[in-house]
Amino acid sequence: MTTTPNKAAAPSVDAPVAEAPAKPAPSAPPKTERPYSPGLEGVIAAETAVGYVDGANGRLLYRGYPIGQLVEKGTYGRVAELLWTGEWRKSAKLVPAPVPDPVMCALHELPRHTHPMDALRTAVSVWGAWRRPHWPPTVDQARELTAFAPSALAAFHRLRQGLEPVAPNPKLSLAGGFLQQLTGVDPDPANARALDAYFIVGAEHGLNASTFTCRVIISTRSDLASAICGAIGALKGPLHGGAPAEVVSQLHEIGSPDHAERWVREAIERGDRIMGFGHRVYRAYDPRAAALRKVAEGMSDMAEWLDVAVKVEDVVLRVFGELKPDRVIKTNVEYYAAAVLQGVGLPPDLFPPTFALARMAGWGAHAIEQASADKLIRPDARYVGPAEMDVPALGH
Ligand code: CMC
Repeated sequence: MTTTPNKAAAPSVDAPVAEAPAKPAPSAPPKTERPYSPGLEGVIAAETAVGYVDGANGRLLYRGYPIGQLVEKGTYGRVAELLWTGEWRKSAKLVPAPVPDPVMCALHELPRHTHPMDALRTAVSVWGAWRRPHWPPTVDQARELTAFAPSALAAFHRLRQGLEPVAPNPKLSLAGGFLQQLTGVDPDPANARALDAYFIVGAEHGLNASTFTCRVIISTRSDLASAICGAIGALKGPLHGGAPAEVVSQLHEIGSPDHAERWVREAIERGDRIMGFGHRVYRAYDPRAAALRKVAEGMSDMAEWLDVAVKVEDVVLRVFGELKPDRVIKTNVEYYAAAVLQGVGLPPDLFPPTFALARMAGWGAHAIEQASADKLIRPDARYVGPAEMDVPALGH
């Protein structure tokens, strides 16, 4: 056997140790020149044709179409198909599907105090165990998951109140069917349309934390159910999908616009986050907030709440301009999402999972796109721990 001159042969464990080699002095890990961006801010981690978030100019496009126009001219079913297939078709629609039996059994078993976000994640997980969707994810898988998820969430909401779930009315839209399965009666068409608009607005938003999570999981050639479970977990955090419920309690706490200035100043000085404001990407007004504000303004029951919300928003933006002049902090989607979700009668703890129902379309589209790129996502970390050292002997 020949050995290459520069490569030392691996020492055999059985070979007698002739002379202990000089021990290298513990050294700090080598410094890397590669840039580190905390929170991956500004890092391009994927190429996508699904959506474009133009943070500087406050624009959001789904496959090239502006969000405002999609809300005016589209339905969630059409928008979901657009995201999955790239096609804008009149015939495209999504109707609410019944909850599969294994999923319903699991929902029955959940404790009533289960957070609805956990119930939704469980429903997706059981669906995955039952259907065993294989990698690569497909449009059919995304469609099936998106169509039954609202029914599963509504069923859990009824079960936790001691009510029996109701079957979906297939004549309704996905959003309308969700409301019908929550209450047991067909919804006011205006509310169904308002929630459909919310679903459109929430459907896709580039490489946000939950979509990134979904893409990371798919990049390992894992299945769609696992990826969506991970995405739901990421969306559950208050900095991502948990904000609108807190917008409601925040406005409740402020009470009247006259108290807003003091409340906001004190909150910012304490280092608290004001929910419904600020964004990683937008440095202009979030176009989704503008679209949902318009929807909320059309909801008669929300007039009084909106009046307070708009006045408080003005104060918050002014105070941010004064106290955080170096960071452009504007209203984000969650501020007016809170108005629409309340207006259609949802309790605040259903806000985050309802956001997840809307985002199913975007998650599915990104999962399909990621699988076609078929590249494992595996970034690197900068090591800042101790230099190499011997493990101290602890005795027996
Ligand atoms: N309230 C108070 N301070 C804020 C806020 C806020 N809402 N947003 C940003 N800041 C400040 C933050 O304190 C920091 O100040 P400093 O540099 O003095 O420490 C600076 O702005 C930068 O904040 P950051 O957390 O480094 O910036 P980010 O890009 O990571 O933050 C965010 C994005 C959404 C996490 C943040 O704006 C936030 O916590 N907002 C409140 C929660 C919220 O409304 N979330 C919904 C986001 S929209 C839904 C979605 O698209 O996922």
